[in-house]
Order: sequence, then structure tokens, then C-alpha cells
Amino acid sequence: MFPSNFAWGAATAAYQIEGGWDSDGKGPSIWDTFCHKGGGLVFEDHSGDVACNSYEFWEEDLKCIRQLGLTHYRLSLSWSRLLPDGTTKHVNQKGVRYYNKVIDDLLASNVIPMVTLYHFDLPQALQDRGGWKSPEMADIFDSYARFAFQTFGDRVKLWLTINEPYICAKLGHEDGIFAPGVKEPGMAAYLVGHNMLRAHARAWHSYHSLYRAEQGGAVSLAINSNWAEPENPTSPEDRAATERYLAFSLGWFAWPVFVTGDYPEVMRSRVELRSKGLSCQGCRLPVFSKSEPTILGTADFFALNYYTSRMVKPMSDLPQVSGFRGDRDAEEIVDPSWPVCGASWLAVVPDGLRKLLNYIKNTFNNPAVYITENGFSQVGPVNMDDVPRSRFYQDAIQEVARAIQEDGVDVRGYFAWSLLDNFEWADGFSVRFGLFHVDFSQPERKRSIYLSGREYAGIISKYRALTGTNNSQ
Ligand code: GAL
Repeated sequence: MFPSNFAWGAATAAYQIEGGWDSDGKGPSIWDTFCHKGGGLVFEDHSGDVACNSYEFWEEDLKCIRQLGLTHYRLSLSWSRLLPDGTTKHVNQKGVRYYNKVIDDLLASNVIPMVTLYHFDLPQALQDRGGWKSPEMADIFDSYARFAFQTFGDRVKLWLTINEPYICAKLGHEDGIFAPGVKEPGMAAYLVGHNMLRAHARAWHSYHSLYRAEQGGAVSLAINSNWAEPENPTSPEDRAATERYLAFSLGWFAWPVFVTGDYPEVMRSRVELRSKGLSCQGCRLPVFSKSEPTILGTADFFALNYYTSRMVKPMSDLPQVSGFRGDRDAEEIVDPSWPVCGASWLAVVPDGLRKLLNYIKNTFNNPAVYITENGFSQVGPVNMDDVPRSRFYQDAIQEVARAIQEDGVDVRGYFAWSLLDNFEWADGFSVRFGLFHVDFSQPERKRSIYLSGREYAGIISKYRALTGTNNSQ
């Protein structure tokens, strides 16, 4: 059973659905630039230029939201649609108008918005100034956040500052497979992650001191993590490697915010160990300055994006002194070992969600948790009767129910990824995560509900009826 005020949601992100990439005064973002480079960086050189065209067809999205019976909808703001060069020097009023309409329409439909300030789409103008590698980003992000709280915070009460800093850092600045396409293993990702934490904390402190009393909302950041288990549960090495794996993923961002204000100890010692012999020893994983606002305590709830699980064992063949690769600092081999569906990285392990929720409860002092993303993809020919995804949602939601009822985890909401098929980053439109199918071959971008969408709507209506849920609070 779910609490009566449980949030039943679905999520999207601006660049993945909006299109209108240069409409009405929007400035370019790093994803516009990345996609326009071509050369196969993105599957078949797809781009989010038009995507689901939610910039024009928002009302179609609203129909989908209403059809599902959602109580909550998670969207992100396109920073460069609001502030074309990323700074508050120039505000694009047409962008403000767009999001005002989205928010007002949601509320008029009795749907509560959860708004992400930053979901991978940095204004290009800020990338040109160094992007997330630059320490000045904390200040700039803080100004943007204040602008958003000031403009929308009378109606938006659930805020996420940054979506998945781990993915931005690693895929954007280490592997280079996401915008801005930087490939600096072992260095840039830590710096970027650090500046994102500083930026997040600054925004949280601003909300806390300037807006909370009047607006009464809550602010967090969306942290993604796989669940992980030792390949051999009786092996101390495999177990230690698993702990490291979690420290280097979930812990990287959750530990500073929820536990100590600093990175997990094992992360510090590992990076230090693997930096030995480098001329820049001590330069890889940055140190938080005592003169800046603290990172500890800067989340009003825990926002978790969960997709999959991994089996872990230590790597044995690592070069110990030189030639480090940042993606090997955790020193383990991860191996799906569970059946993979859709996208190649997505092993389906619904009970990994329950285990991860328990881990969060025990490690981070039983916080209120919103599952801000969880979902299942389809690749290849479209199947509107997507039975595997329907089962996936049944199973995942069952695991959440168990976590609440049997384990006492304080889960407040569940957001399916995603409302619509959309631009799935480097996979373009080849991977479909929607509860609604979108016909990308037609200018109308017609939305049609999948079987899994009907299934999710059924689950929501069943539980809302059982608990007398209303979301007018
Ligand atoms: C997350 C991301 C979403 C979506 C999802 C599915 O990492 O926040 O934007 O793409 O993965 O891959």
C-alpha cells in the first residue's frame, strides 16, 4: 500500500522533448552544439532540434499526463530558453511565458510540478567560458536558480537543482559520449562533479535563506545509481569492491550532501593511491573550501534515479602507478549478469530498486525519498503492446510497495521515465522509453498510449482509489 499523498508521476527533460531549439530567442545549449557537429556522435546524427516538439505541442503532453491520472509531473527548464547566454543579464520573456503556461496548466489540472533546473543542457555561452570545469559556475548557477525560484517559485514547490551530476561528469567529461564531449579521463569528471556540488549547494542555500519562508518548497538534486552486488557474496574482495563501486557512484554525490560534507573516505584514499607518481598528486579529487557554504545538509529529500544493477568483483590487472584512467579508480569489474532489455546497459532488476532504497535508508539516515526516474526501454521495431515494459512497471512498483510496507523506507513518490518517447541522448530516437509512443516521422508528432501507459494508469487509479489520494494539498 502507498501513503495517500504518494506522488504518482512521470518525468521528461527539456532537450529531450521540447524541440524549438532556436525558437523565440532561445540560445543554443551544449546539446545543440554536440548534435550539430554530426559525425556519428549521436545515433544517425539525430538531434533534439524538433524532438517531440513539446514547445509547440505542450497541450498534447498535458492530455497524456491527464490520461495517465498523474498526481505529479517532472519537467526540466531549458536554461538557455530562459537566459539565452546563461546569465540573468538578459531574460527571454517568451521562454518565461512558455514555462508559466506549462506550470499553470498543470496546476489547473490538479497536477503538481516537480521542476529540474539543469538536465544536461548547459547554455553554450557558458561552455565557452569553461563550462562545469570552471569554478565560476557555482555563482552563475546560483543566479539562474534564484531567477527560477523568484519567477516560478510561487507555484513550484518541488525543485531539483541538477540531474545526475554523475552522468554529466563521466559521460560528458571523461568518456566524451555526451555533450560537451570532453575526454579527459581521471581529471575533468572530478572537477566537474565538484563544481556541480558547489553549484547545487549554493542554490539550496539561496532557497533556504531567501525563498523558503515565503514559498515553502523543497529542494534536492537527482542522484543516479545502479544497485550493486558482489559477484561472489562470500568473497571479502568482491564485497569490498562492491562497496567501492557504490561509493564512487551513489556516494560521490550523496555522501557530501547527506553524511559528511565531503567525499566518501574510500574515494579519497583510492584516488590518492592511484595518483601516486603523478606530478599533480592531490590535484584530482578537489577539496571543499572551508570558506564556502557547506555542502552537508543541502537536500530536503533524497531524489533517486534508478535503472539497473551490476555484479561486481575487483580488477586484478590494473597498472598501479602510472597510466591511470579515472573510470578505473574504483577498481572493479562490473558485469550486468542479469538479462538485458532495450538499451545495452539496462539489465532489468526490479528488486535492485528495493535493495537500493534500503541501502539509502540505512546509509543516509532514513531520508524522505522520491524515485525521480525509473523506466524501461524498447529498441527496434515499435511494439505498442509492450508487455515486457508493462510487467516491468508492475514489478518495480511492487518492489517500492514492499520497501515502504515491509522495510519502512520513507518513499514519497515514483516518477516513470518517461512520459513520452523522446531524444535519448547519444542513442537519438533509436531507444524508446515512453509510456506514450511518439511518431517522429510526422510533423504532428502524434502521441499514442502504449500498453504500458495503460498499465501504469491502471496502477495509479487503483492505488488512488484505495487510498483516497487527492493531490490538492
Ligand atoms: C537518465 C537521464 C534521462 C534519460 C534516462 C534513460 O540518465 O536522466 O534523461 O535519458 O537516463 O536513459
